[in-house]
Amino acid sequence: MQSVCNAVSGEALKIITGLTNISYHEMDSWSQAMIDGIANYQGDKQIETHCHNATKKIDAAIDGMIPVVTKNPDYSLLSVMLEAQMPMDSLRANIKLAISGGQNEPRDVIAGAVWALSSHPEQLKNVLDGRTEWKQVFDEYCRWALPIGIAPRRIAANFTYEGIEFFENDKVFLMFNSANHDEEYFENADRFDLNRDTSKSIAFGAGPHFCDGAWAARALVGEVALPKLFERFGNIHIRKDVNVKFGGWAFRGPQEVPVELDIL
Ligand code: HEM
Repeated sequence: MQSVCNAVSGEALKIITGLTNISYHEMDSWSQAMIDGIANYQGDKQIETHCHNATKKIDAAIDGMIPVVTKNPDYSLLSVMLEAQMPMDSLRANIKLAISGGQNEPRDVIAGAVWALSSHPEQLKNVLDGRTEWKQVFDEYCRWALPIGIAPRRIAANFTYEGIEFFENDKVFLMFNSANHDEEYFENADRFDLNRDTSKSIAFGAGPHFCDGAWAARALVGEVALPKLFERFGNIHIRKDVNVKFGGWAFRGPQEVPVELDIL
């Protein structure tokens, strides 16, 4: 998790956002501080302070990179938003949103997919033999394990759906996890199956808040991280003495994935 997945995810997010003046450790820690701050429903002062410190450091990193990308524009969020003359407050908010939304999930998918493939050796063989695409591993892992399982919403107006009444300002959760395990849409939904049609998956949400980083994450994990890992280390084995545990409810992923590697 730390030495490979966190690093790959953080380095990619540095390039995506344009904050190449920070370390991937900083990216990870600031992202986590914001996630904790966003979910600080109990109003814990320490969590709040930690979150504010992280956003201040992100603002400083943005300030540091503005002259760099103004001189040499690129395709980073920072550069593109500057060129579009987006108001500075919106620009800063968008960079922070991308950081809070874009670090954990690719990290968890890389680690989780390694575990899923190692636990399904016959399917791993199909991937290594080129019969199944790496991007399908990404799509099916996200469908099956959902790095983001739920999302909160506030009800905007009273309405009734299938006999259930919702009232303005009610707080509800959209259960992406439940939808992706709905047997009406996915046969043997609890099975990790690389041959299935994942087009009905809502692992990246739906509608106006559909994930902004979905295609970047798919390319990062399905075209680069997973193929390169297996190309470099061949058959990666999960250590037999360790039981891989998953944690989290909104953000869900393996806590650690200890592996043995064959250096090729
Ligand atoms: C496997 C990787 C990823 C998964 C599974 C994922 C999942 C999701 C989901 C489910 C949502 C919708 C949340 C909602 O409806 O409230 C979302 C939103 C979002 N994601 Fe991702 N995400 C991933 C990677 C990324 C990356 C790499 C970035 C940034 C580079 C990113 C940026 C965002 C942003 C900015 C939003 C908010 C969009 C909005 O509210 O309009 N995500 N993501």
